[in-house]
Amino acid sequence: MKRLLIVTGGGDCPGLNAVIRAIVKRASQEKDWEVLGSIEAFNGILREPTEIVVLDEKVVAGIHYQGGTIIQTTNSGGPFNWPVKQHDGSWTTVDISDEMIRKIQYLGIDVVVNIGGDGSQRISQALYEKGLNIIGVPKTIDNDLSATDFTFGFQTAVQIATEAVDKLVTTAASHNRVFIMEVMGRDSGWIALNAAIAGGAEICLIPEIPYDIQKVIDRINSRFVKGRGFVNIVIAEGTHPIGGEPVGTKSENIGYRNFRLGGVAFKLLEDLKLAGCTHEMRATVLGHLQRGGVPLAYDRVLAAQYGVKAFEMALNEDYGKMVSYRHPEITSVTLKEAVQKPNLVTLDHALMKTARGIGICFGD
Ligand code: F6P
Repeated sequence: MKRLLIVTGGGDCPGLNAVIRAIVKRASQEKDWEVLGSIEAFNGILREPTEIVVLDEKVVAGIHYQGGTIIQTTNSGGPFNWPVKQHDGSWTTVDISDEMIRKIQYLGIDVVVNIGGDGSQRISQALYEKGLNIIGVPKTIDNDLSATDFTFGFQTAVQIATEAVDKLVTTAASHNRVFIMEVMGRDSGWIALNAAIAGGAEICLIPEIPYDIQKVIDRINSRFVKGRGFVNIVIAEGTHPIGGEPVGTKSENIGYRNFRLGGVAFKLLEDLKLAGCTHEMRATVLGHLQRGGVPLAYDRVLAAQYGVKAFEMALNEDYGKMVSYRHPEITSVTLKEAVQKPNLVTLDHALMKTARGIGICFGD
């Protein structure tokens, strides 16, 4: 009997369940494979008692269109950041990766499939270097992994953001207002850029292009005649003005890996006011709505392709790699290559040309 353990780590993402289902369905076509799932990323293995569940065809039936992940996820804890309470009551984090690898071997697990974004794949690479048989699957709504054309979940987030712009356009136009909508993406502007093009926004502000507030005001003003007009601005959460810093808060969750971005839409609104923008303005933060609900068909298909490929790599003992989509092929890259550099919007990207071609202002 061979055992494959699925782990879903980092922020959840539409399509996770479709990957899980595809792995289980493909595994069921082979003799003697058992698929297991660790609850809340690696924390399920690390906990005592362990929290590991059997994933068979019955368990995964019909989950392909469900959002979230049936085995849950977290971006706190993990083998390299395990929270431990100290004698004085405060918390610290320790590296218990060696212990975890021994436990995985003791449990008779032959291979781990880690479905996650850049942070999770960094963990995959570090565990692979320590001798664990591991395969990565690229997940994130941010689409910030450069070793694949698309991560699953991204298209769904873009659709949700676009529908939100569509809704804000009608209220902005009715009230002669400026609407600022903040979308996710961490350090990348892919969700913002796609939603701005698809939703017809006039201004799109992204982390890759620090903006000049005066250029933003000039574009806003150009859209109003005798007080009448409206503007929709899509801003990515990691964006900052020239010389400024991203807006967010340090998480108080012990072992939480990220700086929590959020609030840049309100900051921009205040900065616009301070810089003399007198139009009526409102800010909206789309937040986790972008990660919830059913995945689009596109993401379900991509997730199914990733799941089947991941299992076939396990079958061939093709470890230390991440599944990747390079149109039209589903292929793989080494984990080392997968985490080398993020996928950020470049000024000469085809979508940037399109965006500028339809008159979108980037504040530069
Ligand atoms: O990486 C996915 C993502 O949704 C980012 O776009 C966002 O900054 C972050 O996760 C939010 O994390 P959390 O769910 O921990 O608030």
